Amino acid sequence: MTQTEDRPLTADTPMAPIEKIVSLCKRRGFVYPNSEIYGGVSGIYDFGPLGVELRNNIRRYWWWSMVQTNDNVVGIEGSIITHPRVWEASGHVENFVDRLVDCKNCKRRFRQDHLPEENARLKKCPVCGGELTEPRTFNLMMETYIGVVEGERMKTYLRGEACQNIYLDYDNVLKSSRMQIPFGICQIGKAFRNEVTPGNFLFRQREFEQWDLQFFVHPSEMQQWFDYWKQFRFEWYKGIINHKDRLRFRAHGPDELAHYARQAFDIEYQTVLGWQEWEGIHWRQDWDLSRHSQFSGQDLSYTDPETKERYIPWIVETSGGVDRTFLNLLLDAYEEEPDPAGKEARTVLRLHPWLAPVKVAVLPLQKNKEELVTTARDIHKKLQRLMVSQYDDVANIGRRYRRQDEIGTPYCVTVDFQTLDDKTVTVRERDRMTQVRVAIDELPMYLWELVTWK
Ligand code: GAP
Repeated sequence: MTQTEDRPLTADTPMAPIEKIVSLCKRRGFVYPNSEIYGGVSGIYDFGPLGVELRNNIRRYWWWSMVQTNDNVVGIEGSIITHPRVWEASGHVENFVDRLVDCKNCKRRFRQDHLPEENARLKKCPVCGGELTEPRTFNLMMETYIGVVEGERMKTYLRGEACQNIYLDYDNVLKSSRMQIPFGICQIGKAFRNEVTPGNFLFRQREFEQWDLQFFVHPSEMQQWFDYWKQFRFEWYKGIINHKDRLRFRAHGPDELAHYARQAFDIEYQTVLGWQEWEGIHWRQDWDLSRHSQFSGQDLSYTDPETKERYIPWIVETSGGVDRTFLNLLLDAYEEEPDPAGKEARTVLRLHPWLAPVKVAVLPLQKNKEELVTTARDIHKKLQRLMVSQYDDVANIGRRYRRQDEIGTPYCVTVDFQTLDDKTVTVRERDRMTQVRVAIDELPMYLWELVTWK
């Protein structure tokens, strides 16, 4: 289990408004609206230079802690397009639907299952009080076609949940690796849903990325592994956030279980949007392998090499969103810290150093002193071999610190006149703004220890 040390904040900070995050993301190059010059497409986004670094770090850390450090877990990367029968077998063609109602007065549209109980019962709009229509059913799967000749084209779907590839490749993994039950398969990949009410920035999109573990077990060991992975995932999220009290479990009621789940818990995080799902832990039982056996005609049962018992493995699923993690981490990290001198507030992203897009900024104290500049550039080049480093000599040092605070850079290295005398630099830490002197020779290893996950 991966654990991080507690990183207390200066104060209990208020929850960040989502508009501030959207604005910071665009201004500093984390996230842009997709196809913006054409007016955009709702629920679809692009990631900018800092966004892609943060996203890669989040993905890599998940992969490291789920696949590379668990001997009983391996990874795959499946395709986005599969045979259409996959989605019949999975139940998505039939069951992956939202029920929607429209307000006859203000024309707003709501998901029936998101309405407050009272409004759903009285068919009353929660915004204007107008009358709501009867619910209509919409399938969320995105359709596409394989082939070019009209009449021979095959209709299929962009995957509605990434995990289906894991069931499709389960037998191949079993035969081509040395895995035996209990074991797991992980994957990170895109999923597509025609969400009828996309919104809240990255929270509910039409194209997004999921990370899944599907852990295959003997039915008699289901409860033990379900509890294990449920706790493992909770601790994983707890280890990368500041506001640990904003994380909780919520059990699904019988009426909200997905068609494949016999039991489910959400790991939820509290933001200005309220308590919202971050990741789902699902007791999928034998639903997936039984259905794919039935629809494909292939036997996906497992024979225990020792007892020779033959059975369809049961599955524990942990399924979360890369984009939702990206958004929650920014909401968790954002802070506007009042300046004691009463000047401009300091905007700081208190991202975990492991995940921060830029690990270090190297700053010569003055840009018109050649020795300071060449020493700083040299340090920057050396650090770039190990981590993402930025060189910056524009504006006064205070402004440059602020620029780095706003994008979450955990360390700034300042090359000053003392550096020229004793070959040490100042390392300034983002959260507490403390400063220490470190020898240039020791700097790469000093920083490496601080920004590398363990
Ligand atoms: N295989 C199970 C599955 O897909 P899910 O609860 O529908 O379960 C898992 O999705 C995770 O994927 C969610 O907890 C969330 O983090 C993310 N997710 C789901 N729909 C999303 C959307 N429209 N936009 C962004 N992330 C989404």
